[in-house]
Amino acid sequence: APSDPDLVERARAARAALGSRAFVLGHHYQRDEVIEFADVTGDSFKLAREAAARPEAEFIIFCGVHFMAESADILTSDHQQVILPDLAAGCSMADMAAIDQVEDAWDVLVDAGVAESTVPVTYMNSAASIKAFTGRHGGTICTSSNAHVALRWAFDKVGGLGGTGKVLFMPDQHLGRNTAVQQLGLSLDDCVVFDPRKPGGGLTTEQLRDARMILWRGHCSVHGRFSVRNVTDIRAAVPDVTVIVHPECQHEVVLAADLVGSTEYIVKALDAAEPGSSWAVGTELNLVRRLAAAHPDKNIHYLDSTVCFCSTMNRIDLPHLVWAMESLVAGRPVNRIVVDADDAHWARVALDQMLALPG
Ligand code: 13P
Ligand code: SF4
Repeated sequence: APSDPDLVERARAARAALGSRAFVLGHHYQRDEVIEFADVTGDSFKLAREAAARPEAEFIIFCGVHFMAESADILTSDHQQVILPDLAAGCSMADMAAIDQVEDAWDVLVDAGVAESTVPVTYMNSAASIKAFTGRHGGTICTSSNAHVALRWAFDKVGGLGGTGKVLFMPDQHLGRNTAVQQLGLSLDDCVVFDPRKPGGGLTTEQLRDARMILWRGHCSVHGRFSVRNVTDIRAAVPDVTVIVHPECQHEVVLAADLVGSTEYIVKALDAAEPGSSWAVGTELNLVRRLAAAHPDKNIHYLDSTVCFCSTMNRIDLPHLVWAMESLVAGRPVNRIVVDADDAHWARVALDQMLALPG
């Protein structure tokens, strides 16, 4: 539905009053009404870099989810404030790894004698405390756009891909598996799933010793719903369709698709697509709808019409954005995201490692 014109007017007024004191970041999954006020849109990697590159902005208003705002707070200076317009905008995948579970998992690796040859690689979609754990243990953060580079770097630290070193990949098992198998050439047998709810992760010492990729048992509730059946059905229904999906989809879905990549990759692929070409997109609905509206000359389908919005991304709506901006104008900021100093230090070590990766 179109936004309330009074609210749009208030948003414009507040944005104008803030001027260059504020910088508004919008993730590709945000609602149109919010994207309209974003100074920059992007995937998680691009937005992290943008946040780090705005030292002049007093306020970074992050229209995205909690782990993204935490990362922005870690990457910006102390005098800058990062604001998340709705504090309830979390990520169900990030919630699947709690720091005490991660510490316990590491103890399991120590007991199995494999911790010394294991590097943690942690997906951006995780709490700051887990990023800090990663920094303390010599690992790196990655996003969906650089996971393959991060994995190569990590394996190089422990003897290379041809050796016996390992990666503990948290918390998205699918991104870890898809990247290791499709981009690094490891086999499915090299991957094991560590279930934090089971003693010892549900793995034997032998399985841990033989594994190259120890995948945390986490997944995205939105992307986990796309199936191979969706891909077969759309291919049958739409001639010459190109299927493009996010790497948080299950492995079989990624194998059945034609292209796989981050949200920014998907946006660029559709921008560059030929007029008249047909596409089926397997990612969050706000983005797919916006792409279809932006490219009326292309035939853009949703990979599964029963999969819908990311409910937490959707919590950031125009009323929350207006409330957050007006609070800044009034000098009484709401919803500031602050990571405690010790976690911020070590999480920054892991985030800086990601930013220093080649490419
Ligand atoms: P991107 O890094 O591709 O934007 O993905 C973030 C995310 O949460 C996908 O679900
Ligand atoms: Fe988290 Fe999935 Fe939503 Fe991305 S789409 S923020 S991974 S729940």
